[in-house]
Amino acid sequence: VRLFADVYSTVQDPFLRRALVLAEKGRGTTAPNPLVGCVMVRDGRIVGEGFHAYAGGPHAEVCALSDARDAARGAVAYVTMEPCSHYGRTPPCTAALIEAGVSEVVAGMADPTRDAGGGAQQLREAGIVFSFAQNPEPFEVLNRGWLHRVTTGRPFVTVKVGTSIDGKIALAPGSRSSMTGPHGTVVTSELRRRSDAVVVGGSTAACDDPRLTVRDAEGAAATIQPTRVVLAGGAMPLQTCALFTDGSAPTLVLAAAGTDVDVPGLIDVIRYPGEEGLLGALRVLGDAGFNDVLIEPGAKLFASLWNEDLIDSLVTVTGGGIAGSCAQSLYPRAYDSEVAALSRRMQAVDASIVGDVSVTVWGRSSS
Ligand SMILES: NC(=O)c1ccc[n+]([C@@H]2O[C@H](COP(=O)([O-])OP(=O)(O)OC[C@H]3O[C@@H](n4cnc5c(N)ncnc54)[C@H](OP(=O)(O)O)[C@@H]3O)[C@@H](O)[C@H]2O)c1
Repeated sequence: VRLFADVYSTVQDPFLRRALVLAEKGRGTTAPNPLVGCVMVRDGRIVGEGFHAYAGGPHAEVCALSDARDAARGAVAYVTMEPCSHYGRTPPCTAALIEAGVSEVVAGMADPTRDAGGGAQQLREAGIVFSFAQNPEPFEVLNRGWLHRVTTGRPFVTVKVGTSIDGKIALAPGSRSSMTGPHGTVVTSELRRRSDAVVVGGSTAACDDPRLTVRDAEGAAATIQPTRVVLAGGAMPLQTCALFTDGSAPTLVLAAAGTDVDVPGLIDVIRYPGEEGLLGALRVLGDAGFNDVLIEPGAKLFASLWNEDLIDSLVTVTGGGIAGSCAQSLYPRAYDSEVAALSRRMQAVDASIVGDVSVTVWGRSSS
């Protein structure tokens, strides 16, 4: 399923475009690190390729250098982000590029972090020709979650809601009801695959008993699963719910400091300062290294996210049924008490049809 416009195809340089495709292979496993891809080119021909596959593993440049072996000497390295210049869990990529004898480096975008940044200067000082791509935007889109976390301290938040044609999220308040059918599940699975963590409210976990896993069209679970997060509140699921017992993905509970939560001993409970509300909860997820977070809210959590302006991208999946006026609305409150909510607007940025459902992606309004 393709839910988002293909910004990578706007990149003119075929080697930088290839580096973006390689970087994408790490999606879902590199957090807290960014996605990075690298291509080594000699005499106009690709002689080595690599991408960063998981945090703690070799960086893209090092993978591409070892793929190219001796052909790296005198080659041009095309990399989606400025090579790092610091000792983190692995040695600096700038040192590896200098030692391998590459003649030129072209990077998609600058590294904004203080620790790892400065690679361009180091390479130039070593006599390597260095330049940035003319338009950094596609490279920023690749890493929008990581960029958001390192610049604001909280993850990029994508919110997904599944509704009927008349905008209802459940047939009755508090009931489990799929508004979007099997094709809606395919879209949800794709959004989860692109995320480091999937968050639900305690009451949704209690009444829906969801698995929150990435599954294929036949229902088989993927090998790599995002972390499942239950936002503890008034209602909480039973200790026997699937999230706490099926062991199919890492699972944790996010609870305000000082509150009681009744969860099995094996489930981690992460605390956030309750007075900071949802923003505090998201900051704690940022501190834990989650770059991209998908939230699948019910009405109450959706209203909080909307009112606190915490939605960076909203994906509405609309199924073809009508649920009627007794069903649960996406936004639960009375018209005249929510003037601020009604004045906030998002703008549609992408739309597609997946099987029998319609998918609209909304971004922050530019006006
Ligand atoms: N169609 C869909 O896409 C979809 C998706 C999910 C759920 N649903 C449906 O929605 C219904 C459940 O909705 P719901 O409104 O009961 O629950 P919900 O919105 O999923 O979850 C509410 C939870 O979020 C917490 N929360 C909300 N605002 C918060 C804030 N500012 N700070 C900290 N915690 C906050 C609440 O804690 P407190 O209780 O302490 O306030 C509560 O635990 C079910 O029928 C479910 O099937 C539909």
